[in-house]
Amino acid sequence: MIGGIERPGRIVDCKSIDEPRQLWPDDVKELRLDRHPRLTPAHASDILRLRPGASFWIPATGEFMVVTPWRHRRELLTVHTSGAFGNEDALLRAALAQAQLQGAAGFVMVDLSETRSPAFYERHGFRRFEDIVTFEHRRPATLASAKIPDELEFVRIDGSDPALFCEVQDLDRATFPWFWWNSPDEFDAYLAIPDVELWAGLRNNKVVTYSGTTRYWRWAHLDRIATHPTLQGLGLGRATLLFAVRSMVRQGCREVVLSTQGNNPRSRSLYQQTGFVRTPVDDYSIFVAPFDESRVYAGMATDEAQTSSSGDRNSSCLPASGDYSN
Ligand SMILES: CC(C)(COP(=O)(O)OP(=O)(O)OC[C@H]1O[C@@H](n2cnc3c(N)ncnc32)[C@H](O)[C@@H]1OP(=O)(O)O)[C@@H](O)C(=O)NCCC(=O)NCCS
Repeated sequence: MIGGIERPGRIVDCKSIDEPRQLWPDDVKELRLDRHPRLTPAHASDILRLRPGASFWIPATGEFMVVTPWRHRRELLTVHTSGAFGNEDALLRAALAQAQLQGAAGFVMVDLSETRSPAFYERHGFRRFEDIVTFEHRRPATLASAKIPDELEFVRIDGSDPALFCEVQDLDRATFPWFWWNSPDEFDAYLAIPDVELWAGLRNNKVVTYSGTTRYWRWAHLDRIATHPTLQGLGLGRATLLFAVRSMVRQGCREVVLSTQGNNPRSRSLYQQTGFVRTPVDDYSIFVAPFDESRVYAGMATDEAQTSSSGDRNSSCLPASGDYSN
């Protein structure tokens, strides 16, 4: 046993050693981690604790597939590390079946370099979910000098004001489709990253926009930007973007990069109008095997039915927020 998580006792695993078996922390010492320098045994055990029983390995070959919540979402799983060569299909099949058994809404695969064929995704029940398009701004100083309307007051979120932090999380839920929500765990993990800045844009003391950025020496990534749905199209998103870029430029960033959903005309238009240019070489795709389509597609532009049914969109931290329109 390692760190309080044990393979369930007294269950005899009758599977042959050629078949995928659940991977538990006390199996980690048997894995061939030498090709995965970033996955130390201690780290692998930590990941297994996040979703016990969701990962698999094949004792005869030492192949493994470590599965973890996707972006700290309990309802969505993904492959953290695949140490498979000939048996990737068998390991993934086992992981998908177990994820479904554990009540996950879907299983996510991020295809950064298109190394897998479409047939791979098809035979495992994955669908192309989003094409992520990327942008860069090579002269953000020009953007940073633009006038920002006075109507917004920007307050940095550092966790010291839980009510304000909750308001930002509520805004996130009200604004993004279910799949893209940041969970409270994701927000906490995000805030703990050095050089992350989370800012709330307030109008009349209510959070109406927010932005999140990460600074990497001379460049920065705009991770997130949102305007409350009832206030979109009024210039608040642009003002929030200008503010975020100004903050990054003041800290020495000479380039700002970002990504957004390919089918998000509003954000794409905002970025293009403010001088960001596409960087297709960095684009990537997200594939999802949806076990519960009503959740996975909730709030997506393609799904008209769900938005009306979305009790899910209610506040997670605070009572449903009031009138944002004044
Ligand atoms: C993208 C988003 C932040 C824009 O915020 P906003 O407050 O609506 O933006 P603004 O009113 O400042 O408009 C800025 C530009 O966005 C684009 N835009 C805004 N509303 C639009 C709409 N309904 N259709 C098309 N483009 C639109 C336009 O290019 C607009 O510039 P223009 O007014 O000069 O034409 C907002 O739509 C949002 O929160 N969307 C959901 C979350 C999201 O997708 N975030 C980005 C991905 S991380």
